[in-house]
Amino acid sequence: MSEDKTAQEDPNAQQSAYWNEVAGPKWVQLSQAINGQIEPIGRAAMESAGVEPGQRVLDVGCGCGHTSIDLAQRVGAKGEVHGVDLSEPMLAEGRSHAADLPQLRFTQADVQTADLGDGAYDRIFSRFGVMFFADPEAAFRNLRPALAPGGSMTFVCWQEIGKNPWMAVPGAAVAKHVDMPKPSTPHAPGPFAFADAERTKAILEAGGFSGVEYESLEKGLTIGAGMTRDELVDFSLQMGPAGAAMREADEGLRSRLREAVAQAIAPFITDDGLVMGSAAWVFSAR
Ligand SMILES: C[S@@+](CC[C@H](N)C(=O)[O-])C[C@H]1O[C@@H](n2cnc3c(N)ncnc32)[C@H](O)[C@@H]1O
Repeated sequence: MSEDKTAQEDPNAQQSAYWNEVAGPKWVQLSQAINGQIEPIGRAAMESAGVEPGQRVLDVGCGCGHTSIDLAQRVGAKGEVHGVDLSEPMLAEGRSHAADLPQLRFTQADVQTADLGDGAYDRIFSRFGVMFFADPEAAFRNLRPALAPGGSMTFVCWQEIGKNPWMAVPGAAVAKHVDMPKPSTPHAPGPFAFADAERTKAILEAGGFSGVEYESLEKGLTIGAGMTRDELVDFSLQMGPAGAAMREADEGLRSRLREAVAQAIAPFITDDGLVMGSAAWVFSAR
């Protein structure tokens, strides 16, 4: 099969491999800690989405299903929540916590290409699950018909890395010791792909959404609540660019990276865990 044909049939093959084989198992292992860190942001977005009992909600890039479970509790037994994600291990984690919620189901699919059903949802929601599409405009063009008349979409995505010390601080410490891979373009699929809010707005409009609005949500995140100092360092070393560098490093480099990250995060350690700033955009569209 030619490379072009593969890309057409499975445009997100790279992300699929990453979320099934590399990041997914890690997210499952650290599921509670990661959720604890970003839960306040997801909750704020859910409030602004106006999710109500009886609604049908699509949770895009639902990962380990924490937000899907929260949404399922909000829509109640007469509603429906459908969590869709590329990552089978993350979905399996979600399913294992959802047995008592018959209104919740999970499907492994690529949101950019899957048939999501015309007018099937009153709300489309996502907590940090929309920044990884190879072709974001195509993905939103695929999502738009799934909204029922009068429906709306709300998602959160990160602002630029410089406004997100939770990622920038360990990343900068690691970058002093290893060459960090640069994204192929500033907007390459990844956590900060939608940092430019006006560009993101244009993508949503090109994908057929209207009434696109966004607001800044800046919050202190508590990372690794209840962890010891050593556990906080271990946790920081497993996430984002630090995690990628550690996977490639030999024993000697690993211990230098550990030391560098321990020093960099030390000023942010409090009795509650690591408290670091974050900035996200909350987008809404019809
Ligand atoms: C940063 S994680 C967020 C997971 C979850 N929403 C949360 O907040 O815990 C991004 C998620 O998007 C999923 N994802 C990325 N591209 C996708 C696509 N094209 N279709 C469906 N899911 C996708 C990944 O598998 C991953 O679970």
